[in-house]
Order: sequence, then C-alpha cells, then structure tokens
Amino acid sequence: MGEIEIVLKDALAPGMTRLEGYRAHGGYRALEKAIAMGPKEVQDEVTRSGLRGRGGAGFPTGRKWSFLPNDGRERWLVCNADEGEPGTFKDRYIIEKKPFMLIEGITIAAFAVGAHNAAIYCRGEFLEGIELLEAAIAEARSAGLLGKNILGSGFDLDLWVYRGAGAYICGEESALLESLEGKRGMPRLKPPFPAVAGVYGLPTVVNNVETLATVVAIIEGGAEWYASMGTERSPGTRVFSISGQVRRPGNHEFELGTPLSELIAAAGGLGEGRTLKAVIPGGGSAPILTPDQSDLPMDFESLAKVGSMAGSGGVIVLDDTTCMVRTSLRLLQFFAHESCGKCTPCREGTEWLRKILVRVETGHGREEDLGLLEDVSNNINGNTLCALGDASVGVLLSTLRAFADEYRAHITGGGCPLAPVASMSAAAAGPA
Ligand SMILES: Cc1cc2nc3c(=O)[nH]c(=O)nc-3n(C[C@H](O)[C@H](O)[C@H](O)COP(=O)(O)O)c2cc1C
Repeated sequence: MGEIEIVLKDALAPGMTRLEGYRAHGGYRALEKAIAMGPKEVQDEVTRSGLRGRGGAGFPTGRKWSFLPNDGRERWLVCNADEGEPGTFKDRYIIEKKPFMLIEGITIAAFAVGAHNAAIYCRGEFLEGIELLEAAIAEARSAGLLGKNILGSGFDLDLWVYRGAGAYICGEESALLESLEGKRGMPRLKPPFPAVAGVYGLPTVVNNVETLATVVAIIEGGAEWYASMGTERSPGTRVFSISGQVRRPGNHEFELGTPLSELIAAAGGLGEGRTLKAVIPGGGSAPILTPDQSDLPMDFESLAKVGSMAGSGGVIVLDDTTCMVRTSLRLLQFFAHESCGKCTPCREGTEWLRKILVRVETGHGREEDLGLLEDVSNNINGNTLCALGDASVGVLLSTLRAFADEYRAHITGGGCPLAPVASMSAAAAGPA
C-alpha cells in the first residue's frame, strides 16, 4: 500500500497538454491496443480489473457498461466533469494537466460500449480546463484520433464539451442529463436508469473523469496488473484531494486501502502543535471519522463498514481549532443553497437545519434543538429522489453522535466556545 502515480503519472511533465507531449509519454498506445482487442474484450478487461466508479457511488464500471440494452438504438457516453462536491478538486487537475488522457479514456470507453456520440459535461467554473479540452479535442480530431474512422478502425466518435452553470445538482447523473438536453437541472425519477433512457431517451453511460482516465491505464497495463494494487474489492489506485488543516493540501494518488494517516502525512501533516479532531473522508457528503480511526484503510468497504463512505475522494482534515457545529453549518449552507427544490424534504429540511444550526452556533440554541436536528435529518435521509438529501445530513448526523458534548456546550454556554460569534459574518450564516 502507498502512493503510486498511474492517473497522475507525468502530470507535470512539460508539454502534456499538447498531443505531441502526451504521445511522447506513451499517450494513445492504449487506444491502439483497444482497437486491436475489439469492443467486447475491452469491456471484459475493464470488468476483470474490478474498476469502480470514482464519481461517488463506487459502482463497478464494467458492470455499468454491460447494462446497455442490445436493442439497436444509438448509444451515448457522457463524462461527468461537474465536480461540485465540497473538498474535491481531482477531476479539474486531471483535465488541466492531462486532457488527452481523459479524451483517450472517453474514446476507449465509447469504442467498448459502441457509442458514436460523447459529451464532457464540465463544471462552468472550469474556464481553463474547458479551453484546454476544446483545444485538445480539435488537435485529436485533426490527428485522426476523433471523428470518422479513428486510426483506420472504422469506428467514428464525435466528442464535445458542454459547459454547466455551476449547480452542484448537475453532478447527479440524471440532473446532468436534463441539463445536457437544455432543461433545468433536476433529478429524474429512476428507473429508468440512464443505461436504458439517458440523454434524449437513448441508452447512455455516465462516468466520472477519473474513472475514464483510469480506463487508459487498465487497457495499457492489463486487468491483472491493475487488480494487483489496492484491495480485493477496491482494486487499483485513486486520486485523493487532501485539504483542510494540513500543511500542503493537494492531490495525491494512493492504492485503495492505504491507511488514512499516510494520506495526511503526504499532505504535510497537521500544523505545528495541532492535534487531529476529525476527518471528512469522501467529500462534504461523507460522515466524519474520528482520530481513533486515523489508520482506517481508505477503500470503499472499510469506509462503508464504519458508517462513512469513500464518496468523491475528497479528504478534509480538521484539527483541534475547528468547531464541529460551524463545520456542519457551513456544509448545510452549501446543501440548502444547492438543493434543486424538487423534493420537499430536501428543499425545506436543509433550510430548517441551516437555521437551527445558526441558532446553536450563535448562542441562541435551545435544549430541544439537538433532537430536532436529528429528527429533521432523519426525515430527509432516504426520502428524496436523488442522494443530495442524504448527502446534506452525513456530516451533521455523524458530528451529532461523535461531538454531542460540543453541541451541548454551545447551547448551555451561550455560543461557540472555540471561535467567537463575531468572527462569523451574519451574512454568511444567513437568517436564523
Ligand atoms: C448531488 C450529487 C452530486 C454529484 N456530483 C457528481 C460530480 O460532480 N461528479 C461525478 O462524477 N459524480 C457526481 N455524482 C455521482 C453521479 O450521479 C454518478 O454516480 C457518477 O457520475 C457516475 O460515474 P462513475 O460510475 O464513474 O462513478 C453526484 C451525485 C449526486 C447525488
């Protein structure tokens, strides 16, 4: 177990954002190999590698591809580059440093599933990344790596970039597809799943940026090589975005199953004299871990087993200066703002939770507020069309359990014992 660069390999090498530079580092060997293998063998290879989606849910990629019905309809591949999860910045990094790896991965995946149209749905704020992707697509097209008869294989693929408008909900795959079709980004009722009725009602695969970039490495190195890393049920590596109160925040690629403490160390560790208070291990939606879990293996199963989740790979490290009530409040502000409003429990509940947390944090909390926070959270959890509802209460519910005394101290002591209320702008907190 440890730090290994596969997706991030040569990310900082000069010229990597141009086709020539990418090819000089082995780029497009995997596509040549994939074409020689044929679509079915490529799909089998990805299935055997055990690759699991890096977008959040960790769904096995090969299995997802196999769900497309064989009914003669046109198929689509959509790359989810919306990356709105708090504390997650690895997709942006892959796009900005290795745009051709993503394009090659998309081409291989589209070849494997028989899609002749593909779109990259990009977070609107990725201005530099979008420019780089558009230039890279144009370069690939003129080199015969996109468009008609790719590398003389007879396979055609059109790929373009779609720019979102910065809504977190548009990272949820069905809302993303609505937005891609030019509609308001709101989740669809499932089933039908995108594999059966995706963009324009056509069979569609939606995969995350890192998932698709990883496909390149799997085809080049082979399924056995890939599966020899990581754990049995979480094979391979993943890019973790490590942020928060560490000395050198950034993206680091580790074998899945590497202990959390190694990730924190790679990011420079905590500040001088500080101690670990909690870690949000999988983006702002993931329930917290406590210091006694700092050696937990960072893989899908181990995190699920302790009631958290691997999520987006965003690891937010919190030291002893952090107020857990304020942490919950900051996240609830985000989720209440980003709730699309379609499901009542999420639309109303997130705003209620935000208001109660403002009250507790600013010293106006009531004894019954802790029970109320739990009750409202439990009425959101599992009761919405998409997982934004569940996501919004992950940190809150877990901190209510692990840091109940800190919440109580806010109520009995008239506000935050760690950070004075004056330091929190009323405008940022919103109305109580
Ligand atoms: C509210 C919400 C936001 C999401 N945001 C993203 C995102 O920004 N990027 C992403 O890849 N997946 C995101 N997902 C997960 C996608 O719905 C989907 O599972 C993923 O794109 C599938 O790709 P994968 O199989 O490669 O992981 C989000 C899910 C939810 C519920």
